[in-house]
Amino acid sequence: MTQLFEPFVYKGLHLKNRIMMSPMCQYSVSEGDGRPNAWHQTHYISRAVGGAGLIMMEMTDVLADGRISVQDLGIWDDGQVPAFRSIIDQIHEYGAKVGIQIAHAGRKAESAELRPVAPSAIRFAEPYRVPKALTTAEVEAVVEAFHHGARRAVAAGADTIELHGAHGYLIHQFLSPLSNRRDDRFGDRPQFAIEVIQAVRSAIPAQMPLWMRISAVEYDPRGYDLDQMVQMARRLSDAGVDGFDVSSGGNSVVGADRVYPGYQVPYAARIKRDLKVPVIAVGMLEDCRVAESVLSRGEADLVAIGRGMLADPYWANSAALSLGERVQVPRQYHRAFAEDKG
Ligand SMILES: Cc1cc2nc3c(=O)[nH]c(=O)nc-3n(C[C@H](O)[C@H](O)[C@H](O)COP(=O)(O)O)c2cc1C
Repeated sequence: MTQLFEPFVYKGLHLKNRIMMSPMCQYSVSEGDGRPNAWHQTHYISRAVGGAGLIMMEMTDVLADGRISVQDLGIWDDGQVPAFRSIIDQIHEYGAKVGIQIAHAGRKAESAELRPVAPSAIRFAEPYRVPKALTTAEVEAVVEAFHHGARRAVAAGADTIELHGAHGYLIHQFLSPLSNRRDDRFGDRPQFAIEVIQAVRSAIPAQMPLWMRISAVEYDPRGYDLDQMVQMARRLSDAGVDGFDVSSGGNSVVGADRVYPGYQVPYAARIKRDLKVPVIAVGMLEDCRVAESVLSRGEADLVAIGRGMLADPYWANSAALSLGERVQVPRQYHRAFAEDKG
């Protein structure tokens, strides 16, 4: 038995395998109303038919002004729930579980009607706008928006929730010395994430795992490093996050010098080793033998596949075939995956 196809059970989440579809913005909302549409339905259900154990739906914003673009998914209104519910119910029919990645883009909210908001009035880079620094009361209102976003995700039938704390969006902006120069309690950089975690936990069932995607390193020498992230992650874990989905960068124009298969895996392994919590590894793991080795070496509990799954919706089934595992496809497709095609 390969590790990729071992079931994963944590709290109330039961996955048939350890393959997650990585959250990927589709920028495909038609009416600017945040609701998933026919594109999202086809996109997500194909990956469920394709065998992924967990589908993490793309960055979904908890406030309209927290969107990267007006084509983002949104979960700021109860009226958005049924459109998610319909897709999630169908994904479940194909044996996959569903998470929603909830988020606020902060200073990267390119389509905010007014000025985008952020911990401090520091722009990401040209040509982004200089954001407005949130007042303490406004930060508390955003925390509340995360609470309601999580409540709606549960109402939509999500099996788990991921907070987007990576790639330079609002939670990351608070964590980073590059973007947080506050002098109220949120100047203690993990404090915003801690309050978001507590607010979200109070909106979801106790048995529902809560993940947070983090950027383990910022690459920019003025940002935080891995040791500092590990310290912060400890506090986030104490606040109620169950596990981490470990990415990197995005809060500075400075990026990784070199990328190669599995380049972010050592960060995931370090968080797992030091905090003893489940972790998801991501980044150029589309060669299924590389993904399998990450799991078999105990470096992560799940692997997230992004572009590999855009290219091949049936990535998980193809991996099963390559690795000699039993392929679980709908009966209509059995002949394509049968060992003996004769
Ligand atoms: C089209 C696209 C959209 C993305 N959108 C998101 C997103 O909504 N949230 C997120 O955390 N990462 C996002 N990412 C990053 C991916 O989830 C993933 O971490 C990254 O592509 C590296 O994994 P890969 O090498 O398997 O593609 C996006 C990536 C792509 C290619």
